[in-house]
Amino acid sequence: MTDEEIITDITFKEPEGFHCSVIFKQNYLSTAHIVVNQGGTSSGKTFAIEQALFCIAGENPKQVITIVGQDIPNLKAGAMRDALNIYSSSQVLQAKIKNYNKSDRIFEFLNGSIIEFKSYDNSQDAKSGKRDYLFINEANGLPWDVYTELALRTKKRIFIDYNPNTGFWVHEHLIGKPGVQLIVSDHRHNPFLTPEVHGKIEALKAVDVELWKVYARGLTGKITGLIFDNWYICESIPAEARLIALGLDFGFTNDETGCIELYQQNGELWVNELFYETGLTNTDISSKLKEVGVNVNNEIIADSAEPKSIEELKRMGWRIIASKKGADSIKNSIDILKRYKINVTGSSVNLRNELNRYKWRTDATGKTINEPVDSWNHLIDPLRYIALNKLKINKAGNLQSRLPHRQNKQQTGTLYGLI
Ligand SMILES: Nc1ncnc2c1ncn2[C@@H]1O[C@H](COP(=O)(O)OP(=O)(O)OP(=O)(O)O)[C@@H](O)[C@H]1O
Ligand SMILES: [Mg+2]
Repeated sequence: MTDEEIITDITFKEPEGFHCSVIFKQNYLSTAHIVVNQGGTSSGKTFAIEQALFCIAGENPKQVITIVGQDIPNLKAGAMRDALNIYSSSQVLQAKIKNYNKSDRIFEFLNGSIIEFKSYDNSQDAKSGKRDYLFINEANGLPWDVYTELALRTKKRIFIDYNPNTGFWVHEHLIGKPGVQLIVSDHRHNPFLTPEVHGKIEALKAVDVELWKVYARGLTGKITGLIFDNWYICESIPAEARLIALGLDFGFTNDETGCIELYQQNGELWVNELFYETGLTNTDISSKLKEVGVNVNNEIIADSAEPKSIEELKRMGWRIIASKKGADSIKNSIDILKRYKINVTGSSVNLRNELNRYKWRTDATGKTINEPVDSWNHLIDPLRYIALNKLKINKAGNLQSRLPHRQNKQQTGTLYGLI
């Protein structure tokens, strides 16, 4: 956002019951038909748009507001969680809401307005229902034809947000057209982040300038050199799949502790995220493992850089070992994983995010270096640890890749397509 673009309405007062950023004001006061929020990570886009929608719903009777995401797990981990935070931290808002229907995912206001959370499988599906306001969260996860069907059935205003890792239909069809306002934001517009989070996002500059441009500045990038293009989203781990091991990466203050489980079936890999959180001590990790139902007999492969943590967890009764080390271990484990079809459960939202960002580094001239960016890998690293310790390449350099015995609905390369 440039200074000229910031609405300088000095009479503007924060709505009662909300603490807002400048992005809220921009969205709340917008009179455009389509308000495009392009931004870096954690700029406060989703939060601000939802606050604006809560205000609109509370102020105007009988409004229908639809918040749309790529799928329900994505909504649950992002927009729905933020909405529930906004709701639970504002008594003024709570007084206006009759009920939150968890199973239908609908906030029902006393004045007859509703805010509903939805995802649509295809454009046909998106033809159902009409609304006054629409919010497309992380719009680059939605196809253009789904958007157009939803937009056609929206009377008043459309809000859109995304991280611009590459150009897509918003750039091609909307930005620059009449009735479309563009708001570009980044973490510097969000006064609610800790200095550590600001620092972590800015630190991307030293890691990879292309990632920094997109995620720290909200500028449209052309992120190339993604490492994994061999993964698909599946609904769940097939019942017949065999557990290979769990993988664990240790973090604490700034980095998340990440844990996944890896299964194999018919020559394909099946991965499920178990937890992904900062601030976990080893005792907390042990509790988490129990909480998510890990059996003490299941093998856990953990980051070899933390022998003390591994030993502590071992003493707490877990069957945990260090990942193999070696000069080429990163490259080798990536090579192993690239030979498989990897199915990732839809609920593994953080892993899906990491896979979408995990790329080869580029040097100052933009040339790709044979080394992955060491960032957003707290669930990918555990996957690599298991690959190194547990998955073998045969002499011919191939991994077994038998075809499935039967068509399995859960092998959703066909259902969802390649990401
Ligand atoms: N008005 C606010 N009051 C309190 N906390 C806020 C507010 N706005 C943002 N935050 C905090 O900042 C975090 C990041 O905001 P948000 O999720 O909206 O960013 P985003 O721009 O949508 O990021 P991404 O592009 O990664 O989805 C929120 O999870 C919340 O903790
Ligand atoms: Mg967001």
